[in-house]
Amino acid sequence: MLETWWRGAAIYQVYLRSFADGNGDGLGDLAGLRGHLGYLAELGINAIWLNPWYPSPMSDGGYDVADYRDIEPIFGTLAEAEKFIEEAHSLGIKIIIDVVPNHSSDQSAWFKEALAAGPGSAARKNFWFRPGRGDLPPNDWQSIFGGPAWTRVPDGEWYLHLFAPEQPDFNWTSPEVHAEFHDVLRFWFDRGVDGFRIDSAAVLIKDPDAEPDGKDPYTDRDGVHEIYREWRRVSDSYGGRILIGEVWMPDQEAFARYLRPDEMHTAFNFAFLGCPWDPAALREVIDTTMDTHAPLGAPPTWVLSNHDVTRPVTRYGRADTSFGHDDRKHGMPTDLALGTHRARAAALLTMALPGGVYVYQGEELGLPEVEDIPGALLQDPIWERSGRTDRGRDGCRVPIPWSGEAPPFGYGTGEPWLPQPASWAQLTVEAQSADPGSMLALYRKALLIRGAELGDGTMTWLDLGPDVLAFRRDSGLTCVVNLGPDPVPIPAHSSVLLASGPLAGDLLPADTAVWLR
Ligand code: NOJ
Repeated sequence: MLETWWRGAAIYQVYLRSFADGNGDGLGDLAGLRGHLGYLAELGINAIWLNPWYPSPMSDGGYDVADYRDIEPIFGTLAEAEKFIEEAHSLGIKIIIDVVPNHSSDQSAWFKEALAAGPGSAARKNFWFRPGRGDLPPNDWQSIFGGPAWTRVPDGEWYLHLFAPEQPDFNWTSPEVHAEFHDVLRFWFDRGVDGFRIDSAAVLIKDPDAEPDGKDPYTDRDGVHEIYREWRRVSDSYGGRILIGEVWMPDQEAFARYLRPDEMHTAFNFAFLGCPWDPAALREVIDTTMDTHAPLGAPPTWVLSNHDVTRPVTRYGRADTSFGHDDRKHGMPTDLALGTHRARAAALLTMALPGGVYVYQGEELGLPEVEDIPGALLQDPIWERSGRTDRGRDGCRVPIPWSGEAPPFGYGTGEPWLPQPASWAQLTVEAQSADPGSMLALYRKALLIRGAELGDGTMTWLDLGPDVLAFRRDSGLTCVVNLGPDPVPIPAHSSVLLASGPLAGDLLPADTAVWLR
């Protein structure tokens, strides 16, 4: 029997560097996480997804992996990771880890060997080394983080990096690369991990020598699906461990092809994440999601935030509530009270939909994006690569406030690697645990109900007018969200299970969601 827990799971994303610091160096680690496992068990989540925990020079928050078979010393040791997996399992929590197959660190053994071996060597064939066009790079591709996608090495060749220069791209036409990653998957499956989140999953195949063909030169190219078919055979051989794709693609049909029965199990629903707070737009995204997933038998996922995107309470407090990577809207006027009100409603909408749901650490606390981190402290490579025009993603990576009245808010004893705003005194886990009206209290209640009767299954829309999203789930629970400016009548029900804000008698106020029996 293959396992199916993931079809309706609530998965909590831990950004290890910012979750909890166990050794006083200001950086989160496994000791800190292990010390707070009880918090996660109590929250009612089914699994934890950890961002990369491998040895890394941290040029891109660990997405520059130097060794795929060990743990970054700042975070702990391999033995500690094994202990952590065991402890989580004993609490009934599954563990998903990140795998980064598009690129390694320039400090990986493979890349260092390729550099040393020189032009034409077998070691260089595992990356994309090419001669330039005179003093120009081999082609005009631009890095996703800004600037050229090629860097020149001392012997005159150039290597490709779709992200930072410290992240050389693997060449997936090399059978050695395929074999290496099969082995990496097995290494961690053997240590008990329940699945992988696959970084930048759609961009592995590219041919920088080819003439442009009018299509995106590295996204969703022929051959990429074969990689995941191979991986699926590996994961199935472990009794159904799972593969979750980070697949950013506007074309929903193309996106869904990654979820065919012999490829990945699920993939992040970024169309939903980027959608503005607008009833028609949300309804369309939800319908497209359901329509593209159903024929494949794959459960959708619902995501409001992660370590790459502006925090929801900030996004929803702006005049333009959409999100796009090339348009982070840093510094745009924000009404945080409105944003928080809407984020509460969005949470109930998200957790009621059929399929899996992700909660990014701090989302359950309603943390806002921190937009005033001094430039000198910013570590996201986007800041420098954009010529300091885009402040990047550090604002959603600020360490978690656990307790107390002042920074570091119980995060650890050292100075947090990014400064926490003093105003977070009201947003600590401790403060919110004592307040039944807090965001944390809402997430706890919602996850409890969700665990008992939501998750995987189907939904039926109810028509309550153009400003309202309303649907019934298989258990009979009805979710109603009012996205319009005026209160609307609440449909007939026997009880109110949960509301994102105060109700006005029989009316559901603006930007409010309710779960009804
Ligand atoms: C997606 C990850 O989520 C992001 O943080 C990272 O910078 C890129 N992939 C490159 O690995």
